[in-house]
Amino acid sequence: MFAKVTFAALLSVMAVPAMAAQCDVTVEANDAMQFNTKEIVVDKTCGEFTVNLVHTGKLPKTAMGHNVVITKTGDKQAVATEATTAGPANDYVKPNDDRVIAHTKLIGGGEKDAVTFKTDALDAGGDYTFFCSFPGHWAIMTGKVVVK
Ligand code: CU
Repeated sequence: MFAKVTFAALLSVMAVPAMAAQCDVTVEANDAMQFNTKEIVVDKTCGEFTVNLVHTGKLPKTAMGHNVVITKTGDKQAVATEATTAGPANDYVKPNDDRVIAHTKLIGGGEKDAVTFKTDALDAGGDYTFFCSFPGHWAIMTGKVVVK
């Protein structure tokens, strides 16, 4: 009996390396101006990676809009500042800004969006950040993008 359980546990451990790389992530944002994660891990072997954004709140995007923007950490402040000028019609992202590696649309409560990008835009071990570029959100709604 005991030996059987151990063998099953061993099999489940052995199965892990055979699993495919995780090539997407779901990030939730809420009415309290929070993301549910502080870190997104991107595996370069994926080729393409998808960030799914889900707004679990009820407030409209004009009041509590959220997006996910990925930049180099050093570009974040400038991109976030210029986002306010770009305005809601541009999802608070300056159009054709090549400092922006990927971004979702701006969404309100109950909505979803997703963005897929090529992982060769990122260097393994590089210093990247994700954030919401809605005015006033980027200092709080932010986290690290770890590239491996
Ligand atoms: Cu936001």
